[in-house]
Amino acid sequence: MNTLVVGLQYGDEGKGRVSAHFGKDHEWYVRFNGGPNAGHTVYHDGVKYALHHFPSGAVLGKKVALDAGMVIDVTKLFKEWAEIVKHMKGKQPKLYVSKDAHMIQYDHLVRDEEGSGIGSTKRGIAYAYGDKVLREGEKAGDEYAKEYSPLRAMGVKMYSGLPPCIYDGESALYEGAQGIMLDIDYGHYPYVTSSSVFPSVIHNITKRIGVMKAYTSRVGNGPPMYPEVEGLSEAGDEFGTTTGRRRRCTWLILKELEYAISLLQPDEIVLTKVDILDKLNTIGVWMAPDELVEFKTRQEFENFITTVFPQITWISDSPDGELRRVK
Ligand code: IMO
Ligand code: MG
Repeated sequence: MNTLVVGLQYGDEGKGRVSAHFGKDHEWYVRFNGGPNAGHTVYHDGVKYALHHFPSGAVLGKKVALDAGMVIDVTKLFKEWAEIVKHMKGKQPKLYVSKDAHMIQYDHLVRDEEGSGIGSTKRGIAYAYGDKVLREGEKAGDEYAKEYSPLRAMGVKMYSGLPPCIYDGESALYEGAQGIMLDIDYGHYPYVTSSSVFPSVIHNITKRIGVMKAYTSRVGNGPPMYPEVEGLSEAGDEFGTTTGRRRRCTWLILKELEYAISLLQPDEIVLTKVDILDKLNTIGVWMAPDELVEFKTRQEFENFITTVFPQITWISDSPDGELRRVK
């Protein structure tokens, strides 16, 4: 079985813990888009990990691949690797990197710092993808060929073509970064990230899982143009894992979810952070920009949303609550 996990909103839906849950029976974890703009939180053996390049499987002892669609900042990758090794008491992640992933250069960071005005994570993402498309980028294979590349220090195994699990017939969980509303093609352009949030090659994926949070959060500029709900960012502890920025929060936006679901067509959906709703006096869902329905209790909300989206089969609390099956 090969499972794909994709965010249905603006990132930060809880993909890290959902991937950790669904990948238990898989031998590999693969990241295929974005780079250190992602911030995936995983709890394992009492340790909280904030991962940026690595998929969750890195701390679960799985083989992990950073595939061709990614952009990699080798300095940040090394720091992240060292942090994981420290917590895993010297055990090293089994890291495989595609020769065709692209490298984020110092120059990309400088240019992103100056900014394009969309409120990026300032990790050089747009500029690295920009150089890739201009055919002026540097690939991970070029980086590895350098005499003192940190990739060697980490004991990385380089590969060409698809991730080795495909050729070896081993199962993989494909852990998406960002979310559909941030997708370069289908998101709220230009307030999007610079990559697709879908894998470019359909690696025998047998199950597609969408992740949605019980409300909407957004970092950076641009939509949603819905009014912020007072106290929701604080209740949900919505501060960026990557940049520390406060995420703007509002209720679920039904139309956007319908749209995201029409793109991914998930087999199952996980609804995350529902316990946060208990902290608020009322719970809302935007049916349309000027039409809000309100619920008094979380149970009423859950009944409503699981009826509207019958694909919701799992619900989880925060921060590291186990997933419970609802259907
Ligand atoms: P995960 O994987 C939330 C947002 C940025 C900005 C826009 C473009 O943790 O869900 P970029 O640095 O990619 O050029 O920024 O995209 N963004 C994210 N927001 N979660 C993420 O990743 C994000 N990755 C990028 O805030 O609005
Ligand atoms: Mg995040």
